[in-house]
Amino acid sequence: MLIRGAAPYGEDVTDVLLTDGVITHIGAGAAAAAAERGADVTEIDGDGAVLLPGLVDLHAHLREPGREDAETVASGSAAAALGGYTAVFAMPNTRPVADSVAVVEQVSRLGQAVGLVDVQPIGAVTVGRKGERLAELAAMADSAAAVRVFSDDGDCVADPLLMRRALEYVRLFDGVIAQHAQEPRLTVGAQMHEGAVAADLGLTGWPAAAEESIIARDCLLAEQTGSRLHVCHLSTAGAARVVREAKQRGVRVTAEVTPHHLLLADERARGYDPVFKVNPPLRTDSDIAALRGALADGTIDIVATDHAPHALHDKQCEWEAAAPGMLGLQTALSVVIATMVQPGLLDWRGVAAAMSERPARIGALAGHGRPIAVGEPGNVTLVDPAASWTVDGSRLASLATNTPFNGMTLPGTVRATVLRGRPTALDGELVAPQPDSSRDRATDSLSKVTA
Ligand code: DOR
Ligand code: ZN
Repeated sequence: MLIRGAAPYGEDVTDVLLTDGVITHIGAGAAAAAAERGADVTEIDGDGAVLLPGLVDLHAHLREPGREDAETVASGSAAAALGGYTAVFAMPNTRPVADSVAVVEQVSRLGQAVGLVDVQPIGAVTVGRKGERLAELAAMADSAAAVRVFSDDGDCVADPLLMRRALEYVRLFDGVIAQHAQEPRLTVGAQMHEGAVAADLGLTGWPAAAEESIIARDCLLAEQTGSRLHVCHLSTAGAARVVREAKQRGVRVTAEVTPHHLLLADERARGYDPVFKVNPPLRTDSDIAALRGALADGTIDIVATDHAPHALHDKQCEWEAAAPGMLGLQTALSVVIATMVQPGLLDWRGVAAAMSERPARIGALAGHGRPIAVGEPGNVTLVDPAASWTVDGSRLASLATNTPFNGMTLPGTVRATVLRGRPTALDGELVAPQPDSSRDRATDSLSKVTA
């Protein structure tokens, strides 16, 4: 594939040739090398577009197995490819929970069969995500799914002893615990951010300190154990402050923010529309400003979607009964452009770092988040920053429709997503995966070995 006249990282315009899944030429020689190869080279017009390493989402809920009415690995992969992603980490709060070799390998196999993005399972920290005893983390790490990230996301690993043991355990294979920071005793019955809007609406509040106290505790545990801690979906100014201070002390902590926490405030809840119900909740304008600043200065390492599809009957009901969570995979890049790139808080190098390089590194995912350079894997995303689109929840690839950005016009469209040199999405349309000849070869040699 030849990408003509695109700007890697928004910098100098050049041609990029991908051959056999790898970037083989950048610059003047690319077009000539493509011509030599002849008709089998597809061409993509990169005029006016920015070329980024393929996006990597460290935090998505694909709902399979168990809630295929809300999302499947196939529909979630489609949303991801259309959103510019080449790899997605799948959260384990499925039914059954991904707390065993069998389930993480199943999710991994489903992802391979779909073939639109690399689906990397996250394992649960505790058996059944019940917060009582540790799951078999090393068995999941040693499995074919090679799990490196563990999380009880949706729930907090609230017991400090269990959290300490989990951190100690994953150090053996340089894994990471991704914590959903929510002190359960401070959030009993919580419905939205604790503040003036919650008071007006008569909804039980979810105080900032419930998030910040767990992050502070876990940073101390990570410091003591020397292990890697990743904090999911930071939502408050205080959370960023705690992480900043821990990083200054050398604690091995990384943090993520979601697109919705970068754009939307608790004021949105005034209409009692549960599409704005999410966990942790939408906070205030000053939290939003602090989160943007923390992402800009590197305190927050990455943007992760927390893509959380829900079936209609779980979302279109009264606020208190509705499930928390929002779609994110198809809108993330556009929201980051609107909240970070356009205001000048992040350049394209910064977007590549926050949405591709660092998530791949935190999740220890090989072959993704690599620089756009000769010899690197052909996983890239071509973005048209000057184009805009209007979000229509009913037309997204997800089975669910619960986008909080419905009806908004957002900047930036994905012109192409490329996985190992093959397009998975072009101009808003999916491209069906071709049979992977390298994988066929691998299977062939495997059957010879086992014969
Ligand atoms: O809003 C949320 N939805 N937050 C979570 O932590 C879990 C997620 C879900 O699984 O729906
Ligand atoms: Zn989540």
